[in-house]
Amino acid sequence: MARIGIFGAGYVGIVSGACLAELGHTVVVRDVVQERIERLNAGELPIYEPGLDEVVERNRDRLRFTTGVAAAVDNDLLFVCVGTPPTHSGDADLAAVWTVIEEIPPGTRAILVMKSTVPVGTGEKVRAALDARGLVDVGYVSCPEFLAEGTAVRDFLSSDRIVVGAYDEADGDAVEALHAGLDAPVLRTDVPSAEMIKLAANAYLGTRISFINEIANVCELVGADVQQVARGMGLDRRIGEHYLRPGIGFGGSCFPKDISFLKLLAGNSGYHFQLLNAVIEVNELQKRRVVTKLQKHLGSLRGKRVALLGLAFKPNTDDLREAPSIVLAARLLAEGAEVSAWDPVADASGLLKGVRLGASALEALAGADAAVVVTEWPQIAELDWAGAKSVMRTSLVIDGRNVLDPHELKRLGFAYDAVGRAESALSLLPETQEPEREQH
Ligand SMILES: NC(=O)c1ccc[n+]([C@@H]2O[C@H](COP(=O)([O-])OP(=O)(O)OC[C@H]3O[C@@H](n4cnc5c(N)ncnc54)[C@H](O)[C@@H]3O)[C@@H](O)[C@H]2O)c1
Repeated sequence: MARIGIFGAGYVGIVSGACLAELGHTVVVRDVVQERIERLNAGELPIYEPGLDEVVERNRDRLRFTTGVAAAVDNDLLFVCVGTPPTHSGDADLAAVWTVIEEIPPGTRAILVMKSTVPVGTGEKVRAALDARGLVDVGYVSCPEFLAEGTAVRDFLSSDRIVVGAYDEADGDAVEALHAGLDAPVLRTDVPSAEMIKLAANAYLGTRISFINEIANVCELVGADVQQVARGMGLDRRIGEHYLRPGIGFGGSCFPKDISFLKLLAGNSGYHFQLLNAVIEVNELQKRRVVTKLQKHLGSLRGKRVALLGLAFKPNTDDLREAPSIVLAARLLAEGAEVSAWDPVADASGLLKGVRLGASALEALAGADAAVVVTEWPQIAELDWAGAKSVMRTSLVIDGRNVLDPHELKRLGFAYDAVGRAESALSLLPETQEPEREQH
């Protein structure tokens, strides 16, 4: 069993640390934010991730949290799980990665494992920086992380694949061996290919979402129901049903930035990646279509009250980074609407200026002229909609994730609008049809 130091106690660092401890390794997770580490040491998680608390608790004897760099670097493998947010230009801000490299003391013998998502070519630069500092006994392996928030523990422990890109075969062997307890195929590659796999995978998933969103927009114009269209497409084995869920656009800390990283990487290398421009633009416009729908039903939004249900960028996470809710709230405020909001978990206080946050869905809906389903939390799909109607001023629901039952809402007296579901197509829908849910 290996001794692992992890840099970064965020979504990837805590999940990787806990799951590697679950596999029997001894793990030290280090973060620079003292409050995060204090909470972790007090048995509290600084993030919301279903099932993670149990794995952390079960492995306490093999899992330590610290702010001290010495305890983290004194290990056989050093995992880099720090954030790589976008800069103003859309390129990757690798400042936290470089800080970790600088923190490795002279004479260290270890393997540096890059889990953070970085542009292709980063491994080469890190290798050169290590060599320049005389850290020739520090190996370098790219092992990108594919977990998704909300299902991160399952994704790590039942991974579809583990990608290991190494300069030195023995270093790659050591990283592969760490995952021996997992039933997942291991793909051994060179470092740039491993880096590219991560960016290409996220760009492809984002492309599918923007594609189905455009199909949805056309469905509205031609009288089709995108739910049925997506199902019919997904049953084709060449296509598959995942990531064909229309909605109000993707967000989160990964897709938007990773797509931007890839687009800029291509551009900086002399290639114009046309398709990704469209993926990004469609996603931006999709968030704003909700405003047009609201105007269609309510006319001018000045003085109208709009309640946003769900704020996190997707269900089962508290992550608000690049959440469509933030763009939507800002657009609605700019139109002169009064905006209220509720999320079962995400704490948006301080982030959504001018938005009234309700302690419950019904509190956010009180006096509203419209409810917008922004995040497909089960609590929102299963809301007491009769109760909601009784507190709202106008009975209008814009289902931005197509998770509500149109018949039921209409029976309750709501005007109901969704994404890619033409009125004419909805009236032909069998009454028993259940809305489907899938997470991005
Ligand atoms: N969140 C996801 O779903 C996900 C999935 C796959 C890959 N990734 C990638 O993994 C990386 C981390 O993402 P995240 O969501 O966990 O980020 P995060 O922001 O949740 O966590 C990063 C942590 O690193 C800490 N940190 C910064 N500098 C440090 C240092 N020198 N030493 C130790 N800790 C330091 C920060 O304080 C923060 O707590 C990113 O590159 C991201 O693109 C994220």
